[in-house]
Amino acid sequence: MPFPPPPNPNGSNSFFGLHSSWSSTRSPFENGVAGRFEGEVADLAIFGEIPKELNGTFYRIMVDPFYPVLEGNAPIEGDGNICAVRVKDGRADLKVRYVDTERLRLERQANKRLFGLYRNPFTHHPCVRAAVDSTANTNMVYWAGKLLALKESAQPYQVHPDTLETITYNPFNSPGLTFSAHPKVDPYTEELVVFGYEAKGLGTDDIVIYALDKQGTIKDEQWIKGPWAAFIHDCAITPNFIILVLWPYETDVEHMKKGGQHWIYNKDRPATFVVVPRHPNNLPAGWKAGESRVYHWEHAVLLHTAGSWEETAKNGDVKLFFESSRMFYNLFLAFGSPTDKPFGDMQADYVRWEIDLSQPTNTKVAEPTVILDMPGEMARIDERFLTKPYDKLFCPVIPLEQPSPIPPILPAGLRAYALLDKPSGKVDMFDPGQACTVEEPIFVPRSKNAPEGDGWMLGMIQRMDVNRSDLVVLDTKDFTKPVAIIQLPFKVKGQIHGNWVDALPEEKSMTRVLEPVEKMMGKGALQDEQANLSHI
Ligand SMILES: [Fe+2]
Repeated sequence: MPFPPPPNPNGSNSFFGLHSSWSSTRSPFENGVAGRFEGEVADLAIFGEIPKELNGTFYRIMVDPFYPVLEGNAPIEGDGNICAVRVKDGRADLKVRYVDTERLRLERQANKRLFGLYRNPFTHHPCVRAAVDSTANTNMVYWAGKLLALKESAQPYQVHPDTLETITYNPFNSPGLTFSAHPKVDPYTEELVVFGYEAKGLGTDDIVIYALDKQGTIKDEQWIKGPWAAFIHDCAITPNFIILVLWPYETDVEHMKKGGQHWIYNKDRPATFVVVPRHPNNLPAGWKAGESRVYHWEHAVLLHTAGSWEETAKNGDVKLFFESSRMFYNLFLAFGSPTDKPFGDMQADYVRWEIDLSQPTNTKVAEPTVILDMPGEMARIDERFLTKPYDKLFCPVIPLEQPSPIPPILPAGLRAYALLDKPSGKVDMFDPGQACTVEEPIFVPRSKNAPEGDGWMLGMIQRMDVNRSDLVVLDTKDFTKPVAIIQLPFKVKGQIHGNWVDALPEEKSMTRVLEPVEKMMGKGALQDEQANLSHI
């Protein structure tokens, strides 16, 4: 007798025609993953061996709406849920817990959704329009003894590194209203370089830039005006400059008042870079106090940067370099026009940009150099080398010649990991299989003084075929196959970003610790057997 077909969690008849307010918010790319899980799993199943030297926690954060979001929202809307995997002595524990943001606490108190469109307070319930509407769902960064859950629309929430409990809002008492989800660590000056846009309120073109030192003290604070009120998601830093990368979207408070989206995609806007000296009290030659310079290329969306550096010629001219993904379509359909062709021609690659600071503001930059000619995104480097030239790029990619479980859209459709050695152009690939997608990786050096790129790359693999998530550990000595797979017992939501934090001196177990058995009860089937626990 044949077996019945397996259940299909996305099948149209899975819910017997019953409607739920969740129906409109189920991502077609997630294969029915349920989300809204909080809890812990001690001692995850391991295949292979986790290197004993790996000792720390991978904090990844997921967009995981606790209540169904308002229809029409982009997939970046939804409560931040932290998924932490702690690795120690070859073992791994999992803990998942929401960030208790002000908006989540308000909604759970009311037991319903109160917030409307992404960053449009005019669509929120009138009683909560003064609330911080950050979902804290974009990145996790550890700095100055504080673990931060970040969303660029507001200040950070601080969470406990072991319990993941939410401790406070705006722990550094930062200036302005906003804090980027992509602050950058300068490993040489030991500063966290931060910017915030729309920093004086909704729709403003005010940008704040500063650094936090190792104690969390604010220094080098400066304020500039952007060329327009733009979507400024990421930046790049060199020893003397910060480069803000503007996406071709605009914001308009009047549009929001009419119930429109916070962002409007404008295909006439070029990729734009705002260059600002990092140290306003020690300006580079030729820069005036308060000066920023704007450079642009053609229309493109540069979603994230990898590394960046600067070079000074003998005549004193300075060039800035940074590398980023490049795509030619509106990533967020919700922010486009209904008449736009979705995702355009899907063209995307990974490129190096050069900004010649001897050129005046409002100059077009040179054609970028393609360093990886395939769609790639969420790349990471050995971040001990941030602000300096570097050779190794860890880049999730879409091998277009192979089938994929979901359309080849960045970043949702990333399918494999590439390790690019830039001087030789050699690309090593780890392909987890055609039923898998991959997420932003993290790199952990083998030791403090290991050569660049020598160590391990960890990345979450979403196995669409068996509805499970596997965290793979790749040794860079042979990037093509994992040395360990840390198997989660279910499929977790996709992360936006995450970071590795080396074991903290004061850390305690993330999961429940059992009381030791001092003496057995002597009531088992072989109760007369001699009990000797010391030999176990
Ligand atoms: Fe990002």
